[in-house]
Amino acid sequence: MKSQQKCIVIFALVCCFAVLVALIFSAVDVLGEDEDILNGDNCSDICQVVLVENIPEDISISHEGTTSLTAGLHSLLDLAQKSVEVVSPWWDLNSTEQDARFPQAKQGRLLLHRLMGLKAQGVQLKVTSGMPPSPELELLSHYGADVRYLNMTALTDGDLRSSFWVVDRKHMYIGSAAMDWRSLSMLKELGLIVYQCRCLAVDLHRIFNLYWQLEYKEFVPAIWSKRLSALYSKDEHFSFQLNGSQATAYVSSSPNVFRPKDRTTDLEAIFRVIQEAKRFIYISMTDYLPLLSSNTHSKYWSRIDGMLREALILKHIKVRLLVSCREQTHPLTFNFLWSLQSLCVPTNSCSMEARFFSPRVRDDGSTQGVQHHRYVVTDNSVYIGNLDWVGKEFVFNAGAGLVVSEPGRSSGLSERVKWVFDRDWHSVYAKPLQPNKIPTCSSSTAVSKGHPGHTEDSGSPNASL
Ligand SMILES: *[C@@H]1O[C@H](CO)[C@@H](O)[C@H](O)[C@H]1NC(C)=O
Ligand SMILES: *[C@@H]1O[C@H](CO)[C@@H](O)[C@H](O)[C@H]1NC(C)=O
Ligand SMILES: *[C@@H]1O[C@H](CO)[C@@H](O)[C@H](O)[C@H]1NC(C)=O
Ligand SMILES: *[C@@H]1O[C@H](CO)[C@@H](O)[C@H](O)[C@H]1NC(C)=O
Repeated sequence: MKSQQKCIVIFALVCCFAVLVALIFSAVDVLGEDEDILNGDNCSDICQVVLVENIPEDISISHEGTTSLTAGLHSLLDLAQKSVEVVSPWWDLNSTEQDARFPQAKQGRLLLHRLMGLKAQGVQLKVTSGMPPSPELELLSHYGADVRYLNMTALTDGDLRSSFWVVDRKHMYIGSAAMDWRSLSMLKELGLIVYQCRCLAVDLHRIFNLYWQLEYKEFVPAIWSKRLSALYSKDEHFSFQLNGSQATAYVSSSPNVFRPKDRTTDLEAIFRVIQEAKRFIYISMTDYLPLLSSNTHSKYWSRIDGMLREALILKHIKVRLLVSCREQTHPLTFNFLWSLQSLCVPTNSCSMEARFFSPRVRDDGSTQGVQHHRYVVTDNSVYIGNLDWVGKEFVFNAGAGLVVSEPGRSSGLSERVKWVFDRDWHSVYAKPLQPNKIPTCSSSTAVSKGHPGHTEDSGSPNASL
């Protein structure tokens, strides 16, 4: 009799435990928020893409063939009916004090006002941001925005570098620009806006949702909700019509630990794009530095550098690297680029060239057109991401990317991005790398305010100047 009772008690306990476990797991799913998809039926597969750029007014580079970033972002807000989700590494749109010096700076303030007015139009603005809370985001929450903060220091000891928008889970923007008045005026930025592309937008929204759920978390969860799993990956592309031509695409994210089921990392995406190039790989980057440095020590980080060497030497693919030349450019950048370039001397079948994009220095010492690009274009694909090609970016920081491939077509998006690359490459601001000569990227040091603490911190607002 006694043992039968014991049995019942144990059975009841086991049941309780099972129910509890089930509840925990379903809670994870409940947190996965509202239904975002799509039983395959309403996955529109006819999408439009525009290349958006910010080119400062007094930089003599043509805007032809691309849309202005400001106009692009406003067009997204015009379309918004239900929700606007924004992630930006930092917020600094209020340019009141800068307007006199940089007339275009008011664009930042106009965008901020637009975002402040969304709630009144019945559109929900959701923002994820790194710490610490910014006054601008406090203002936006005062105007009805939902703002969530990620403590990246606790999560990965890195920073949030992601920069993208998802509008109505239908349209999206991804690119180099932060929500910063400088990105709409004096920096040279490039991004993509994809319209009417529900499935791809939902996949990017899932990355946004992942950040959304990490608010105030001190550690990265070991399991992720099913609702955060990737819809598409490097092995399972989204196939669709992009501007009337057949294309495939997927989104990628970083770092490795922010990786639900099936999500391709940025590094894997870049690897795939480099690997599938047949003729050329053109790269436009703010920083290129194959080092993984921490406070205590640095080591060589070969991942991307190694891929490029392999493409050059073993596959004879032509590589061009356009790197930003600015005050914060690490001096070793030149050594590493020179080392890549000398790999091909004097081999005929190998072609590698590096150039530096120097901004224009105005009379008052301010710089216009610091190149802030982060993309790679090959003969068949484009990758646009949020991270610089520096070791610690991929290891610790959060970012996202978009890969679009157009096999067999040469007049689509890749062709347009290549056109932009060529335009910049042949512009007066691109200076070739010369042997034994380190270019001076900080010619404006006499007037600029140095931020020594930020030298490697390519993403901070101060460093962007
Ligand atoms: C799919 O889209 C059509 C038209 O846009 C709409 O009428 C229909 O309700 C949608 N179906 C589902 C399952 O959402
Ligand atoms: C922008 O900054 C100025 C001061 O620099 C301040 O007076 C103004 O209220 C700010 N505007 C917004 C919308 O925050
Ligand atoms: C973020 O996490 C770090 C490390 O756990 C902690 O020291 C810091 O106080 C946290 N910041 C905030 C604002 O909670
Ligand atoms: C795609 O089509 C739109 C509208 O027709 C056009 O404005 C845009 O420039 C095209 N995009 C590309 C990359 O060609």
